[in-house]
Amino acid sequence: MTLTVRPAPHPLRGRLRVPGDKSISHRAVLFGALARGTTRITGLLEGEDVLATLAAVRALGCDASPTHVTGAPWRDVGVLDCGNSGTTARLLLGALAPRAGATLDGDASLRRRPMRRVLDPLTGMGAAFAAAPGGATLPIRVEKRRLSGVTVNATVASAQVKSAVLLAGLGAEGETTYVEPVATRDHTERLLAAMGAPLRREGQGIVISEGPLEALAITVPGDISSAAFWMVAAAIVPGSDLVIEGVGLNPTRTGILDVLTRMGVVIDIEPEAGPEPFGTVRVRGGGLRGTRIDGALIPRLIDEIPVLAVAAAFAEGETTFADAAELRVKESDRVATTVAGLRALGIDADGRPDGLVVRGTPNATPTGASIESAGDHRIAMAFAIAGLRLGADVRDTACIATSYPSFSSTLARFAGA
Ligand code: S3P
Repeated sequence: MTLTVRPAPHPLRGRLRVPGDKSISHRAVLFGALARGTTRITGLLEGEDVLATLAAVRALGCDASPTHVTGAPWRDVGVLDCGNSGTTARLLLGALAPRAGATLDGDASLRRRPMRRVLDPLTGMGAAFAAAPGGATLPIRVEKRRLSGVTVNATVASAQVKSAVLLAGLGAEGETTYVEPVATRDHTERLLAAMGAPLRREGQGIVISEGPLEALAITVPGDISSAAFWMVAAAIVPGSDLVIEGVGLNPTRTGILDVLTRMGVVIDIEPEAGPEPFGTVRVRGGGLRGTRIDGALIPRLIDEIPVLAVAAAFAEGETTFADAAELRVKESDRVATTVAGLRALGIDADGRPDGLVVRGTPNATPTGASIESAGDHRIAMAFAIAGLRLGADVRDTACIATSYPSFSSTLARFAGA
């Protein structure tokens, strides 16, 4: 499926909402399946990734729909298909290890993604896995085992690994402590604590022990990673003024707001309190300038880097993304796919082992290039947004449905695409 985007005929103006946060949606479903009682969910993202998690908990024996999940003891099953979803696979590895046996599998992209980062700490807790000889990639069989708490000093900054270990720790004997090298999104800690898990912070560590979860009413805010596309659209199409309502503003996710502000975009925020902070974000573009994005900022905007690179394409000067080697093991090698897309549009960009450098062309002229998404939803959407300035035929866009099924209709609404 090719998405043809023409340069926006006018500034983008108006108000919009984006679908529910993907990370929080996965957790609402999965933790609901572990809880006593029925968890009610409002605003769940009904994208393919979350639907894979929903199908998995049903297969494991729970009654579940996009608006409710009733927890039940999990039963051993055959294959659970995680589709394209790293979050489904990694969180399930940890959740299953002390509770039920299953074989996790996924699509060609997910079968390439590294799982050793999850298998190693879980194996240290006593978990039993079988993968193809020599590999730590899907398909992987998990066998139910009695686990013991350990201390994990993580080397990779990953909320998925953290969540897998905490979910295993919730079903393990003794205390499990997880220490992160850099803070990553904390949706798991917030939701587990709200559902009554015995979890506390201790210095740099998160400590969890065995205990039940209680069902909860959960409202999922809009996904800032989806809102990011409209923030950048407003930033690059001159004269735009977009107001995005009900978007998640968890501080572990708001790096994009800091970076766009630094690049010269005018952002006004009306925050509202909640177990997960959210609010209204108004974005008005201006002259963009290049910047450097690295260190502790990276986990706060890891999924927004492709679309931030599109913003950088129209900035004065150079933008560098560093300390972001994780980009290479996402749904595609996002260093390679982002650089290839920018170059196809005539933008000067280079890959680095841990990131990329984009040399902006503020007055770039429309080229109408053909861009390959490599089956990666965020690459497809990032370059559709670039098309609002330069025109683009984005190929292989069915993947957008993994995280943002209504993206194309919102694009058409604001830019007549
Ligand atoms: C996610 C964490 C991030 C992110 C992914 C969703 C999560 O991955 O890229 O899209 O829901 O925990 P890592 O934790 O592996 O960096």
